[in-house]
Amino acid sequence: MIDQRQHVVDIVLGGRELQLQVSDTVFQPTLTTRLLAQAVRIPTRSAVLDLGCGVGALAIFAALLGAEYVDAVDVMPEARQLVQDNAKRNGVADRVTATTGDIYSSIGDKKYDVIISDVSGVVDEVSRLSPWYPDSIPTGGYDGADQIVKMLEHAPAHLNPGGVLYYPTGTISSTSRTLAAAQLAFGDNIEIVEQIEVPFCQEFKDNMDVMTRLQSEGLIEFTTRRSRHLWTLQIYRCWLSTN
Ligand SMILES: C[S@@+](CC[C@H](N)C(=O)[O-])C[C@H]1O[C@@H](n2cnc3c(N)ncnc32)[C@H](O)[C@@H]1O
Repeated sequence: MIDQRQHVVDIVLGGRELQLQVSDTVFQPTLTTRLLAQAVRIPTRSAVLDLGCGVGALAIFAALLGAEYVDAVDVMPEARQLVQDNAKRNGVADRVTATTGDIYSSIGDKKYDVIISDVSGVVDEVSRLSPWYPDSIPTGGYDGADQIVKMLEHAPAHLNPGGVLYYPTGTISSTSRTLAAAQLAFGDNIEIVEQIEVPFCQEFKDNMDVMTRLQSEGLIEFTTRRSRHLWTLQIYRCWLSTN
């Protein structure tokens, strides 16, 4: 039987064409996915973890770039089958394994050369306004940082020496709290590798009272130029020393 909530889309990530089955109930690739794909470097024959994988776009991308194997994890049970189907559809089923779990719970004590982590990082109130944020997906909590902080705290334990973590943050969450967690986990081995300004979507513009209040409460930050409101999306790279 055809699931009416699912359909197939073609996307280009870092110059690679991917065909992905998506669903209304699982997070679909966005601008953040594209920016992450632009930022990540995948060494040949590396072990990669895609944490918060959604339908598996970045896991498949990493496998296409030459990763030896990729574990793809998402807390949404529906994501697992989509990732497996999508890996098959893109010819990398032998290198991508999907599991369901909260942060690192489904991978035991495994270590990776690269972790790409895009777990939810948006202030609760904002995510519920966002057209790209399905209601079924856990949010980042009151200040948007809860999931990212959990992910950062335990990231070093899941990286090989010299291993690298890539993760996005946006100023529609508490970037100061996530940066503090990154510094605690990685010391000075942190840099911003991509940064862009993103115009407000219509839903944000329609709820300027909410957005302005959240800014005055210090939970989000945006700039206003003429009639345009922009938030900032950044990709962070954190790494472990080689010894
Ligand atoms: C912003 S989406 C990114 C999806 C995917 N990486 C992409 O680019 O299309 C965040 C994903 O993280 C998942 N997620 C949120 N909290 C999580 C957690 N605690 N553990 C694992 N996955 C989580 C959500 O279900 C969602 O699929």
